[in-house]
Amino acid sequence: MNVQAPQFLTIKGEDPAGLGTAPVPAGPYYRDDWFELEREAIFKRTWLHIGHVCELPEPGSFIVRSLDFAKASILITRGKDGVIRAFHNVCTHRGTQLVAETDGRKASFTCRYHAWTFGNDGALRAAPDMERFYVEAKDCGLPKVAVDVCAGLIFVNLDPEPKQGLADFIGPLAEEMATRPVAKATTFSEYVYEIEANWKLTYDNFQENYHLRFIHPRSGAAAGGPDNPFGYPVEYGFHGQHRTQLIWSNPAPQVTPIQAYAMGKAMPLAYAEADVAPSRLDKQYFALFPNFFLFGSPGTHFSHTVFPISATRSRGVIRLYWVGDDDSASRRFSREYQMATALDIHAEDRAVIEAGQRGLNSGALRHIHLQSQEVLLRHLLHEVTKAVDAYRAELVGEGEAK
Ligand code: FES
Ligand SMILES: [Fe+2]
Repeated sequence: MNVQAPQFLTIKGEDPAGLGTAPVPAGPYYRDDWFELEREAIFKRTWLHIGHVCELPEPGSFIVRSLDFAKASILITRGKDGVIRAFHNVCTHRGTQLVAETDGRKASFTCRYHAWTFGNDGALRAAPDMERFYVEAKDCGLPKVAVDVCAGLIFVNLDPEPKQGLADFIGPLAEEMATRPVAKATTFSEYVYEIEANWKLTYDNFQENYHLRFIHPRSGAAAGGPDNPFGYPVEYGFHGQHRTQLIWSNPAPQVTPIQAYAMGKAMPLAYAEADVAPSRLDKQYFALFPNFFLFGSPGTHFSHTVFPISATRSRGVIRLYWVGDDDSASRRFSREYQMATALDIHAEDRAVIEAGQRGLNSGALRHIHLQSQEVLLRHLLHEVTKAVDAYRAELVGEGEAK
């Protein structure tokens, strides 16, 4: 682990990640041909966050999620043995999409076309006229998708034979994430949005604090303190393909009563009684390659996943995870209020991200510039480029072998 501190004192010319300081190419942020490479080199063969175990609370629970970049629909189930499994949501008879619901509880799934019925373990249980087919039922199970869990977070990998397991992929960060409240979350608030912007551009907006004072003066997201007026991060960490940052904590945070209530505290009478001042470690930001980050503070366990749809369009899933079910309407309200506040801040970002995309789409810039406070953006592009280069080399190798 390579941890740098304190970064808000970074001066011109410093190179916190050792990745150089040169301008970076603009093409990866808008070009269709580059996106095609990312789709194959990264998204179809990397562990991707897709849900949380609290969405599969009991045997028979299932969820269905679309991964547009792969034209895939993924069915994730919890069997009666408690095991979480994932499959392509495709009937093996003639390919009909099997499950139309996005979530629910079922022991089996019946295809509406010719009534082939699959158990939630993926096995074909029954098929009318099976004796007339030229295949055995045991060879007609749903196509499996690799799935695993870290810190309560469900990940899938579309590679039929992933090169590494999830634990190896995440590495030592997995243990640290497992200590965070998201691992015990029982419910969440969710906001899904689509945006006219490349997935990296969309994601990068959450990897730098440089914009806070300009884009968020109203919402107060940029609130700093006397020794760090713009709330710059305190540390950056680089962990293979992943990265972390330690968000600066105001030593005297003002936690409103409604924030404290959302976190499960009894309704305090005044700010001073809220007693939820974030500690240093609780403000850690975990960014897992390629498109997921978790911002673990004691009150709002914020996650954001940005799925590409095309080179210049993406879908973002923002969640606030909560420990403990809503025990009253007031608790629900306080949590939704937190979500609404997050949306308010995001609304301020959205227009400028899309404006950035329009500018890049023009092709006017061959390069863009990243300062030392934007080093996490540089690291993401570096890792993306490395994965694309490795994939290209594989293609060349395959070509030569033919
Ligand atoms: S396509 Fe599903 S049963 Fe025929
Ligand atoms: Fe922002």
